Amino acid sequence: MRLACIGTGFVGVVTAAVFAKLGNTVVGLDIDEGKIAKLKQGIVPFFEPGLSELLVETQKTGNLTFTTSYAEAISSAEVIFIMVGTPSAPDGQADLQYVFASVEALAPHLIDGAIVVIKSTVPPGTNDKVKELIGAKTKVSFEVASVPEFLKEGTAVEDTLHPDRIILGVELGHAKETLTKLHEPLTQNFIVMKPASAQMCKYASNNYLATRITFINQIADLCEQNDADVEEVIRGMGADRRIGSHYWYPGLGYGGSCFPKDVKEIAAYAQHVGESDSLFIKIDLLNSTRIPKLMAKYDQLVGGFAGKTVAILGLSFKKNTNDTREAPAEYVISWLRAHQALVKTADPQVPADTLDPYQAATGSHVVMLLVEWDEYLKLDLTKLASVMKTPKYFIDTRNQYDPAAVSAAGLKYQGVGR
Ligand SMILES: NC(=O)c1ccc[n+]([C@@H]2O[C@H](COP(=O)([O-])OP(=O)(O)OC[C@H]3O[C@@H](n4cnc5c(N)ncnc54)[C@H](O)[C@@H]3O)[C@@H](O)[C@H]2O)c1
Repeated sequence: MRLACIGTGFVGVVTAAVFAKLGNTVVGLDIDEGKIAKLKQGIVPFFEPGLSELLVETQKTGNLTFTTSYAEAISSAEVIFIMVGTPSAPDGQADLQYVFASVEALAPHLIDGAIVVIKSTVPPGTNDKVKELIGAKTKVSFEVASVPEFLKEGTAVEDTLHPDRIILGVELGHAKETLTKLHEPLTQNFIVMKPASAQMCKYASNNYLATRITFINQIADLCEQNDADVEEVIRGMGADRRIGSHYWYPGLGYGGSCFPKDVKEIAAYAQHVGESDSLFIKIDLLNSTRIPKLMAKYDQLVGGFAGKTVAILGLSFKKNTNDTREAPAEYVISWLRAHQALVKTADPQVPADTLDPYQAATGSHVVMLLVEWDEYLKLDLTKLASVMKTPKYFIDTRNQYDPAAVSAAGLKYQGVGR
């Protein structure tokens, strides 16, 4: 099939490369000329395991090309995926300006029968506006469908090659048949529904996962009031098959490019429709106040951060990505600087002037583990203690270390909820 992928960010490049690998002819399009220039040379402009190899392979076969020209990308495309960003507007609602700009730009070049698929996370009702915008600029027949994306940065290639399911938000027409055929090599698990349901499904999924993180943080805070260890609580609770042991991450709260904005959008939507006691309004608030709350607690613990040096291990929003959007590090570092601490940083993938963990720890009074990169899970704790300055606190915000082992190495351990 001939495809166009609009927006060559985290979702767009992975989607384009995977469909090209399946034998489709794919054109990736972006308005960012720098990004397209890099992609044309086979360089992925961000870190995502396995993606560089896939990009080079599919470019060699000629199945994947890149352009900044809408005329070039759209004028032969049977299916067009829209994968541009949908950040939060100041009021929390999804800012759809990039979606609408891409739709207006593609409309004049559509071929008859083309299917425009919204993969960006957008609120229900967006497709009506998209249809209106396209209809005003073309006389050809077209369809608009919603196929929300569920990949996770860090495992995006795997997730796209082996999705749990494909949600097809389609109306009447040939979109269902064409999109099923296109995705069939990836899964047999298609769930067909109305576009608005597909869009709500994406928001519901991310809001549920964000709620799980907030829930376990609430339990962790209560554990700290007694002798309970939240990691033991998770083991016991997770064995209940109704609950499951996966996706429990007590820590500094959820971050990244999706959860914060998707919770904000649903919270804003709830307010807008008069559901002012919505759970999601509270989840958003609890997450926004989580880091300042914990930092105030750690401040007391270490005897005040002012004048101390703090080593931050991990600057991305999670491991195996260099995406720093809404990463805890951003908030922790600005909090520390505002409280007169000196900050040193380390990260395996976020470049600039970062150090290795031992260099960062040298002369530091406190080490804070913010991201569980594999290389940070096997630290030589005795070496770490030997280069640090008293009081030698090891704040493990990911609960990755055995508190007793850290203490035995001569460090003072602080986890979350234990
Ligand atoms: N990143 C994720 O893990 C993830 C997962 C699932 C869903 N999503 C959703 O997918 C969408 C894209 O996310 P992302 O992380 O890939 O975004 P991104 O910011 O990495 O990439 C978006 C790209 O769109 C380009 N763009 C903006 N306006 C354009 C236009 N008019 N024409 C062509 N290109 C344009 C930008 O230059 C950028 O390269 C968002 O709605 C997001 O919520 C993201």
